[in-house]
This record gives sequence, C-alpha cells and structure tokens, in this order.
Amino acid sequence: MEIEKIKAAALKELAEAAGSKAIIEVRNKYLSKKGPFAALYHELGKLPIEEKGPFGKAVNDARNEVSLALEAKLKEAEANEERERLLGERIDVTLPGTSLYEGHTNPFYLILDEIVDIFVSMGYDVVEGEDVETVPYNFSLLNIPEEHPSRDPSDTFYLPGEGVLRTQTSAAQGHEMQRREGKGAIKLISPGKCYRRDEDDLTHSHQFGQVEGLVVDKGVSLAELKGTLEIFVKKMFGEKREIRFRSSYFPFTEPSVEVDVSCASCHGKGCSMCKGTGWIEILGAGEVHPNVLRMNGYDPSIYSGFAFGVGIDRVAILRYGIDDIRRIYTNDKRFLSAFKEEK
Ligand code: PHE
Repeated sequence: MEIEKIKAAALKELAEAAGSKAIIEVRNKYLSKKGPFAALYHELGKLPIEEKGPFGKAVNDARNEVSLALEAKLKEAEANEERERLLGERIDVTLPGTSLYEGHTNPFYLILDEIVDIFVSMGYDVVEGEDVETVPYNFSLLNIPEEHPSRDPSDTFYLPGEGVLRTQTSAAQGHEMQRREGKGAIKLISPGKCYRRDEDDLTHSHQFGQVEGLVVDKGVSLAELKGTLEIFVKKMFGEKREIRFRSSYFPFTEPSVEVDVSCASCHGKGCSMCKGTGWIEILGAGEVHPNVLRMNGYDPSIYSGFAFGVGIDRVAILRYGIDDIRRIYTNDKRFLSAFKEEK
C-alpha cells in the first residue's frame, strides 16, 4: 500500500540520517507541503465518500509516526551536538600557558633612578623643569653670550615663537634662583631630556638626558664640588673605577671642570667607544659664575655655589657597557630584555 511505502521510506532515511542537518533534510523532504504525505491528502478528494475516513486516518497515523520519530531523533542529535561543541571549547587548565612579553624599565630610567637616589641620600631636592624653554633661561641668564656657537640654529632646535627645546638642564638654574628671590640656600638636582642638533653616532644623540645639580649657599667651595662628585662616581661605578678632572670652560661656571670615567669597554686602553682616549666624559661642572648669581637675583658677594650636569645616557653606557648610545631610544625588545629587573 502506498501509505506504508512512503512511511517505510521516510523511516529508513531517518534511520540513516546522521546529525541534525541530515534529519532536517528528511523532514523537509517528507513532511513539507510539497512532500509525499501532502500529496496523499490531495488524493483524498478523489476517493468515494466511504473510503475517505479510513484513508485520511491512515495517512494521519503514518505521518504522525514519522513526525514523532523525526522530532525525537532531532532533539537527541541537537543535544549531542551541543555537548560536543562545549567539550571542544573546554579549557584544559593543566596545560602550560603561553607567556606574554613583559615590559621592562628602559636602562635610561634605571640609571636615572639610581642617580636621583644617590643625590637624594645626600640631601638634594628634586626639581623638574620643562622640555620647552625660552632663550633667556636656556642661554642669556646662564651668561652665554649672544654670539656663542651653541645658540646657532644649526646646534639648537628653535620652535616657532619664543620657544626652544632645552639644550641643557642648566636652564633650571635661573628658574630656581629667581623663584627663591635671591634668598636662602639651594641644593637641588633637576633631571630631564635635552635636545641638540647633533649628528647621531655611537656616543652622541640629538636627544639625551641630563641631571643638573645646583648648590648655592654662603661659602660653598670648589672642594665641596670635588668631594660630592667623587662620592657620586664611586657610588655609581664602584670604588675601582677611575675618574679624572680636567679643567674646562663653560660660560656659567668659573672655574669649570669636566669629569671623565675610565672606559668600560677597554678599561683605559683606548677603543671606538672612547675614541681611543680610554676615558669617557660624563659630566661638566664648576663654581657658579658670579654673573649668573647676579642676573638671577643672588648677591655674589654673599653667596657662592657650584653646579654640575651629568649625562644620563653616558652613565648608562658606562655602567652597562652599551656599545651604541642609540640603542637607548630605538626600543629593540632584545636589547631591552637584557635589563629585566629582579622581582
Ligand atoms: N650644561 C653643561 C652641558 O650641557 C653641563 C654643565 C652643567 C656644566 C652645570 C657646568 C655646570 O654641557
């Protein structure tokens, strides 16, 4: 009989259908409006009246049987598929994790922190200046004459208007003396970035860090400057590292000195790092020039002082034996990873 054949075919296909998608295809094929059961209902109209009842019931029963079997199997398949999906998403918490790249403090700031600590332990205050300065504070109030080559636009970054990118942290000197209105002792360091139109090479960079030191009081002598710098260098590089003072010239100090530390790469023999001299300059210093005191409101007949400017990058190079100053700001992760701090 036609009804039984259709039912048997539907149940056979259902039995063979694996997965919800296949089951839904069977449903669409047999139970939709264009399916074989729907076609049987159409035949109903052509039958003699007495056959209509039993035939209709037989079609209904067959269709219901298929439909029930199909819905049951579909429900089960969907539940299985959901379980499998969840199992696939399960995280095995016992598996080893993938480690993420961890950031480190740049050696520039490791050194800066150390320098600050050393001077703070000697009683210095920390005053931060601005990267953008004005010509008076960067030059004129430091007794740097109009025609001085450091003012040349080929050496200094002038900004539109009044501004200039600080070429030295010495700019902090005038600000601080003026803020104190010529009265009282000053003992400060002022760390920051400085900028110069330098050709970048192994030991020079157009941007670099300095820590300015300024001490002003009644009767401050050059001997105190020497003592202070010796303590600093020994704490920074160790007792064995050699230092030397060379007489030098800065418009804002008189007398002026430059302090060199023996080269970390060649230990004084001479190499490319120290340009064959065996020494690397790390700071300039001297007694504050009376003109600088006067211009900024301090009476040089009462007050004297000393100042120094330490190159942060230079110190980092020496401390860590870095072969190229540019590594400090080019952010090569392999280089930076070498400075992982102990936790
Ligand atoms: N400002 C000087 C420089 O940049 C360093 C310095 C600071 C020298 C203070 C003397 C006193 O070279």
